[in-house]
Amino acid sequence: MSVPKQPTFHQLFTTDHDAVRAELLAGLTSPVAHTSPKFLYDALGSRLFEAITELPEYYPTRTEAAIFERDGAALAGVVPAGATLVDLGAGNCHKAASLFGTLQPSRYVAVDISVDFLRSALLLLQRQHPAMDMVGLGLDFSAGLALPTDVVPADSPRVLFYPGSSIGNFTPDQALAFLRSVHTACGPVAGSGLLIGVDLVKDTAELEAAYDDALGVTAAFNLNLLLHTNRTVGTDFNVREWLHVALFNAAESRIEMHLQARHTLTVRWPGGQRTFTGGERIHTENSYKWTLPRFQALLADAGFAASQAWTDEGQRFAVCWARAL
Ligand code: AVI
Repeated sequence: MSVPKQPTFHQLFTTDHDAVRAELLAGLTSPVAHTSPKFLYDALGSRLFEAITELPEYYPTRTEAAIFERDGAALAGVVPAGATLVDLGAGNCHKAASLFGTLQPSRYVAVDISVDFLRSALLLLQRQHPAMDMVGLGLDFSAGLALPTDVVPADSPRVLFYPGSSIGNFTPDQALAFLRSVHTACGPVAGSGLLIGVDLVKDTAELEAAYDDALGVTAAFNLNLLLHTNRTVGTDFNVREWLHVALFNAAESRIEMHLQARHTLTVRWPGGQRTFTGGERIHTENSYKWTLPRFQALLADAGFAASQAWTDEGQRFAVCWARAL
């Protein structure tokens, strides 16, 4: 009797707590206060983001899922079967798992910053797909995407998977650098490529509603950054003194999220303080919206040989398959 397969786990990233504190404080004390969007995702922030994806106003998740559903057969015609599927930012692994039937991977590599986020999801998935090799990789791929060859074999095609328009949370320069590293990570085998979801430019009212929903879930997601910061650097932010702001900056083609001081206040932490005047903001996230031609040009700039795209009827969202070679 053969032994059932078990997922393997490799934690390659270790958090440098001093560097995290220094990064947060540098942003909070700079003339225009800002923080990286990664600080939105503590345990509660990750749950709030999952709730956002269920909101009526937040169209990206369900629009992308509908494209995968409608165009699955076309995707299966271009994405190589039997590949290693590398899921960047896998979280609960639901999105990739829903595509196993379409993409037919032989190996699934779920990548997230911590393997602890992946453990239960992969153990469950392995039971449902006992013949598939499954690996959990703890890696901060925004800082570099070196895939170990014992985990991602060099001699079979690779499908890198980056759904959800997470690419929009990078500036265009960062997105280009990231896509170049993804192109390199596709490796030398013909057929490899990137399957990516990208949110498209659209009507300002629809965009702003998606980031400022009626229930206030996105507001809670944004404000929770203050609680996360209090725990991480010992600040004394009072959430009630701050307001969630989401606006579309058309010149930069991005939704911006800010936290705005409701009145003049002082935030203190061990070794420092900052006074914010009423109306002053902390810039917490950008979510860039692309046109399809500009995004496909970006993929070409990053080294991808060719790309094809599927959009929904309203042209709100695109799924692109970009062939590496
Ligand atoms: C994860 N990322 C693609 C989301 C976005 O739409 O930019 C994060 C988010 N921020 C507010 N709502 C959702």
